[in-house]
Amino acid sequence: MIDFQDFTFGTATASHQIEGDNRFNQWWEAEKRGRLKYRSGRACEHWKRYEKDIELMAELGYDSYRFSIEWSRIFPKEKEKNNNALDRYQDIIDLLNERGIMPMVTLHHFTNPTWFMEKGGFLKDKNIRYWRDYVETIRDEISGVDIFCTINEPMVYIMNSYLTGEWPPFKTSLLKSAKAEKNLIKAHDAAYGILKGKNKAVGIVKHFPDIRPKTDKKKDIKAADKADDLFNWNFLDGLWDGKVKTPLKSYSVPESDTDFIGLNYYTLHEASHSWNPFKMFFETELVKNGELTLMGWTVHPEGIYRGIKEIHDRYDRPLYITENGIATHDDRWRVEYILKHLIQIHKAREEGYDVRGYMYWSFMDNFEWAEGFEPRFGLIGIDFKTCERKVRKSAKVYGKIAKEKGISADIVKEYIKD
Ligand code: FCB
Repeated sequence: MIDFQDFTFGTATASHQIEGDNRFNQWWEAEKRGRLKYRSGRACEHWKRYEKDIELMAELGYDSYRFSIEWSRIFPKEKEKNNNALDRYQDIIDLLNERGIMPMVTLHHFTNPTWFMEKGGFLKDKNIRYWRDYVETIRDEISGVDIFCTINEPMVYIMNSYLTGEWPPFKTSLLKSAKAEKNLIKAHDAAYGILKGKNKAVGIVKHFPDIRPKTDKKKDIKAADKADDLFNWNFLDGLWDGKVKTPLKSYSVPESDTDFIGLNYYTLHEASHSWNPFKMFFETELVKNGELTLMGWTVHPEGIYRGIKEIHDRYDRPLYITENGIATHDDRWRVEYILKHLIQIHKAREEGYDVRGYMYWSFMDNFEWAEGFEPRFGLIGIDFKTCERKVRKSAKVYGKIAKEKGISADIVKEYIKD
């Protein structure tokens, strides 16, 4: 048995990707205006079907669930608080607790209310007061949550929204990216202060791709270091020591803290030198080795070990794997993917690294942002015509691991061939 005592096994989702009818955020707005290829529509109808979904999680034996509260549901308009939405989230949390599933709540998972974006969103320092209002509302009106994630993958959000311009508000500006980074650190710090007061564990969730140089030439090695600095360390370092050094500008922010770090890990990138100063003299691309997932990502389990080790060595904070998963139609491959990553996590734990849980992305197939509904990440399959749920075999195998708090030799033998 590969042992995982004192460890939580759960799943992860995000509001806009599963709830359906999330009409008041910038994604819906951009979808409506035809600026994105796909529309989230009713997504998985989780907003209506949450009771059954939670029932399913409990039956399968998962003991934690990371999901996000949709700010734009709580405040669809600047001065309009939606108590029904607060009640619904409370209901979700109560049900989870009743069923012995630890809720882990993300406050910001890529979406903002449209009215907040119209005021400039996180580009403006003074807008942080709206964020504070929202977080205070959660503190005062939601109970039963002991673990909060402030912001999901800030660098992914910043890069896609303000640098490559692929996500709303479709900007391509180094200066805007820098401002958003500075203000998201401030937003994390504000949320940390507000929620920490009530003795909760409050952490940041960081995407941490593995990055390697494309060749062993010095300039590619340097390019990989730069990419690693920018994507993986820049935000956390800024949060830690109060100085954000973006490629364009440096800012002072409050020195902040995080009780844990959520690590989201998926794949491997390669970096190479570029002569283009607008690209900061480096380029990164996805590594296309072996069979690729429906996202076009290669499977590289060793990268999760490196992430755990380096983050832990640098900041000495407990870790949760807040996301890790595969988009595939091949459900056996999903099990193999989970096992191989868990084995890396186990190795890190054996070496003394404090990793407290694993949340598979995702509980169910869902709306994958700019890629729409095709990438199938779910342990639970969704028929998007009817929103019917289908329990995949992987959901059960993962449930067995969760219940036994370990991976039995039989499972390893059946699913790991090399
Ligand atoms: C992460 C996001 C999550 C999901 C997965 C596949 O970057 O946090 O919402 O889209 O990727």
